[in-house]
Amino acid sequence: MGKISLIKEDITKVHADAIVNAANSTLLGGGGVDGAIHRAAGPGLLRECKRIGGCPTSEARITGGYNLPAKFVIHTVGPAWRGRAGDEDREDALLAGCYRNSLALAYENGVRTIAFPSISTGAYRFPVERASKIAVKEIREFLEAHPKMEKVIIVCFGDEVFRAYEEALK
Ligand code: APR
Repeated sequence: MGKISLIKEDITKVHADAIVNAANSTLLGGGGVDGAIHRAAGPGLLRECKRIGGCPTSEARITGGYNLPAKFVIHTVGPAWRGRAGDEDREDALLAGCYRNSLALAYENGVRTIAFPSISTGAYRFPVERASKIAVKEIREFLEAHPKMEKVIIVCFGDEVFRAYEEALK
């Protein structure tokens, strides 16, 4: 079964077949990791994103990697955390879908090593302890079902997020 690795890094520097972007539904760029990926990839990425014309929450779209080391970018739109009683299950399911749909789309495009940021835990304020458990569960299930997927790298940008994923991986 492929392995999961956890690193503290800027995802735009990661050499993998694909990196995943925590985008918004317009796919027209933004701040956080979305902004970093568009800056590093260059204007060609936005041009391709404009042709795609958006992506619903929890789904994934694939583009080229342009000036990034990665060959592809998988854009997925995480749920924004509202934390209203009763909404948690729906938001958990949408976040789980981001990982499942990104992995499936990457795999069917021949991707064998893929790097994820911590989706939804920045501007979208999804609690990172909760998000990291969902992410690790979905990645493990996918790796069990797809032995040819070689490596999934979880890329953390800060200590707090890194510790949450270390915990989730135990
Ligand atoms: N490399 C890796 N991780 C990063 C980087 C980077 N260069 N920059 C930020 N991060 C981390 C953040 O620290 C956070 O843990 O990515 C995680 C996700 O945070 P955001 O980028 O804010 O993404 P998200 O919470 O999903 O919000 C998405 O923000 O940027 C906009 O257009 C985007 O509207 C969308 C929303």
